[in-house]
Amino acid sequence: MIKIQKFDKIIAANWKMNGSIKFINNFIKKLTFENNNNNSSLCSIICPPFTYSNYLLNNLKNHYLGGQDCSLYEGGAYTGDISASMLRDIGCQFCIIGHSERRIYFKETNQEVSIKAINSLKNNIHPIICIGETLEQKKNNKTKEVLSKQIIESTPKNSTKNNTIIAYEPIWAIGTGLTPSLEEINDIHNFIKNKISNYENYKIIYGGSVKSAISKEILNLDYVDGLLVGGASLDVAEFNKILSS
Ligand code: PGA
Repeated sequence: MIKIQKFDKIIAANWKMNGSIKFINNFIKKLTFENNNNNSSLCSIICPPFTYSNYLLNNLKNHYLGGQDCSLYEGGAYTGDISASMLRDIGCQFCIIGHSERRIYFKETNQEVSIKAINSLKNNIHPIICIGETLEQKKNNKTKEVLSKQIIESTPKNSTKNNTIIAYEPIWAIGTGLTPSLEEINDIHNFIKNKISNYENYKIIYGGSVKSAISKEILNLDYVDGLLVGGASLDVAEFNKILSS
């Protein structure tokens, strides 16, 4: 497995269910990070839809490939599922697990997220485990309580700072153009690292409406180790700016 601790910052692009061969060709052509990547302290991960993984990997250098999800199961009669071992087989080194869209639309529980993370780890894939509160939970001052429960229940026992990344993505900030204040982001990342035991040296990355206009400020926060970027990662000019911020 890659030593994630060697990276200063981790930037992951979550393309969700977007993209096409034409889109990828244009993206690769205009991606500038590829040409001046002497900066090994930055880990750039691109998570396309499964169908484009191979194509992307064959055409991309200096970026890691990530999945957006993996099956709860290791193999067998689960029509439509993709196992962690299949992801590893085509070169995935990371996998987003428990994204709020999966938790909400596909009713994934913390226990299922933990099993998916176990499957990833078994196949030498770094899980990027997502946690985040709803707006209602935030308004009711429940954020820290919710995050503690999610992180503890979603992270398997064999997770360590070397093999697992945590993504803090407030649900109300995803795709909405809203973001917490810089102070709030730093405070939550500090809380995860220093108030929930065992996560002190984990890489904790922020996601939710990240744009190039604020990426640098977020990356400069003391307790933030990177970004999980959705919408803005589909715009290659924006993504270039984020990678160089
Ligand atoms: P967004 O998505 O950047 O479009 O808000 C982030 C994510 O869902 O990972």
